[in-house]
Amino acid sequence: MATTKVAFIGCGGRNGAHVQKCMENLDNIEYVGFCDIEEERAYKYAERVKVDPEGKIFRDYRDLLANTKPDAIFMAVPPHCHGEIEPAIIEKGIPFLIEKPVALDMATAERIEKLIKEKGLITAAGFQDRYQNLTQIMKDYIKDKKVGLVTGAWYGGIPGVWWWRRMETSGGQVVEQNIHIFDQARYLFGEPLYVNCAGARGIVNGDEYGCPGYNVHDYSSAVIKFQSGVVCTIFTACYAQGPGMQSGMNIYCQDSKLEYGLRSWLKITDKDGVHEYTRGKEQTGIQDEAFIHAVRTGDTSQILADYSEAVKSLRLTLACNESIETGKTIFF
Ligand SMILES: NC(=O)c1ccc[n+]([C@@H]2O[C@H](COP(=O)([O-])OP(=O)(O)OC[C@H]3O[C@@H](n4cnc5c(N)ncnc54)[C@H](O)[C@@H]3O)[C@@H](O)[C@H]2O)c1
Repeated sequence: MATTKVAFIGCGGRNGAHVQKCMENLDNIEYVGFCDIEEERAYKYAERVKVDPEGKIFRDYRDLLANTKPDAIFMAVPPHCHGEIEPAIIEKGIPFLIEKPVALDMATAERIEKLIKEKGLITAAGFQDRYQNLTQIMKDYIKDKKVGLVTGAWYGGIPGVWWWRRMETSGGQVVEQNIHIFDQARYLFGEPLYVNCAGARGIVNGDEYGCPGYNVHDYSSAVIKFQSGVVCTIFTACYAQGPGMQSGMNIYCQDSKLEYGLRSWLKITDKDGVHEYTRGKEQTGIQDEAFIHAVRTGDTSQILADYSEAVKSLRLTLACNESIETGKTIFF
């Protein structure tokens, strides 16, 4: 098998997982470039994959694109850094896997989506949960079921990265983090008709939490009506760090119930009893294998979320922010 040349734009926490998955799960990968505005981070990546950094470290994505010839790019930059880099990658015709959220406004995301479509470029977006065995079990199970109500939740702390604590740089917790559950809801129940979301601040004190300047919502609750008729309520909270919080999803069917613990377990209760499942193979690895397989063969069938899918989930989460700000129901 010929080697696949890969490069990384953004050498922080998340692309570290993609580097790791390339090393663990994929053969014949050649590391040709590492780009980060903080150069020492790019050097650390080169060290990690044990390649000579000479000619492979770049502070500016334009230099990476001018001086290397990657077959595929992994892009994981903070949410507010989208818009300029993607057109340059697309212009070069290089397939890329991009982390969510793909932008913080629809105009940017739609502009990039149009360029991708014009070029017919292979893309993947980092919705790792679609690749879990548990998600697939849920999707198969509800195929012939009547689903009415669904609840979803993401409870978590405040991530350490500086950009997370401000709406302008992260989009807030719904857009940056809980977009995973919103995307999973779209993956399972189809497209939304409308959303109404209430959110609030006042519990988290940024200074006390060690994150001065904090201005994201502490919590919110979104009610989404799907075209399929499903009504789904999704909780998001970064203030709630006590014991017993359970992120995940509950799906109430006419004759059964699915309880999903985020990225770990699934319990289905129906007339045949209780069926319990645990997470199988780690999902980011499966996702990255699917992307590289597509790059190598042109077969994109294993990619479960491409850029356009990411745009749709972005639209849903940005609509939650709009609804919080305006108090209005947002129709799609
Ligand atoms: N799919 C997932 O499960 C998952 C998990 C964590 C983070 N993420 C997403 O990944 C993205 C990155 O998050 P992270 O945790 O790696 O953040 P991070 O801050 O750890 O890393 C981002 C890196 O990008 C670099 N950078 C910023 N602007 C750049 C530019 N113009 N060119 C090159 N490098 C640039 C920064 O210096 C930093 O090293 C975010 O969108 C986040 O939401 C996804």
